[in-house]
Amino acid sequence: MKYKLAFIGFGTVGQGFAEILQEKKEYLKDTYGSPRPSPWNGFEFEVVAISDPIKGSVYKEEGLNLKELLSLVKETGKIDSYSSGIKGWDSIKTIISTNSNVIIEVSPTDIKTGEPAITHIKTALSNKKNVITTNKGPIALAYKELSNLANENGVFLKFEGTVLSGTPALNLSLEALAGIKIKEIRGILNGTTNYILTEMEKGRTYDEVLKEAQRLGYAETKPDADVEGWDALAKVLILANVVMGGNLKIEDIQRTGITGTTLSDIQEAKTENKRYKLIGKVWKEGVQIKGSVKPEKLDLNDFLANVGGATNALTFSTDDLGEVTIIGPGAGKKETGFSILTDLLNIHRLLKGTK
Ligand code: HSE
Repeated sequence: MKYKLAFIGFGTVGQGFAEILQEKKEYLKDTYGSPRPSPWNGFEFEVVAISDPIKGSVYKEEGLNLKELLSLVKETGKIDSYSSGIKGWDSIKTIISTNSNVIIEVSPTDIKTGEPAITHIKTALSNKKNVITTNKGPIALAYKELSNLANENGVFLKFEGTVLSGTPALNLSLEALAGIKIKEIRGILNGTTNYILTEMEKGRTYDEVLKEAQRLGYAETKPDADVEGWDALAKVLILANVVMGGNLKIEDIQRTGITGTTLSDIQEAKTENKRYKLIGKVWKEGVQIKGSVKPEKLDLNDFLANVGGATNALTFSTDDLGEVTIIGPGAGKKETGFSILTDLLNIHRLLKGTK
């Protein structure tokens, strides 16, 4: 089966995924494309289109050369001068009119409106194209509507990278833990703020560390999204609505960021053998699902207190297994790019299973 990919957006995550496809081309062919028996065999892919409002767009039915595209974008910041193909198609035209069968939606997240990603995803699903996104806005704000649309059109909507980037938090809770009752999910859901808090504990200033996080590619385009807790809130909404079956909206989640947490708060906590962490939490209260994002002063013997840097962690409190914790990267170019590859291989496995 050949997956023809169209990228909507070619920023950090899109380029990270393209680099992975380029670097792992032979590995993917040998491991997943080979005829040897495996749940994934027969996997083939081609990137046919990329459309980005700043970097330009290119479409080539037979497939694009990723190596050329990646060096173009690195050297010029644009893809317009690619050696062949059709240029200038916007996102909607690219979704509808290319021969793509999987849309990779990696436009920037807008947590308050979910746009333009919601429109991109609706257009793709209505045109019977599978969608993989790492964009938190649409899943946090419109999960039910979008998943119904995917079902009605017989296509997949996958979004592993929206929570903990490539660390498989959603696949773990939805697939590996199927059948378990989850009472609470609690964790560190934002790498930038965890990095800032960790570095501030070493005596560094907030501004210096924020700039570094932005340079390292952890931070969102607008720093408020991280430091005011919006990014963590989006992930809490996704966990609440996708994993816990809730129907929560932004205003249902109590949200406090880290901008009010001062160096002296951090140092004072240290003298008490405690540590501040921005904790995202979803829990059941009777039949209701509740959620919050706020800095919490944790005892050092709390597992989450010992998760430092940009690393994320999530603890699921369950009935039959007690606590299950997953820890791993929660942000970054390759880390988030990888989540798209795992979603794509899972779509392939599921499609094969239905044939
Ligand atoms: N800005 C986010 C973070 C990226 O720092 O965790 C992943 O959503």
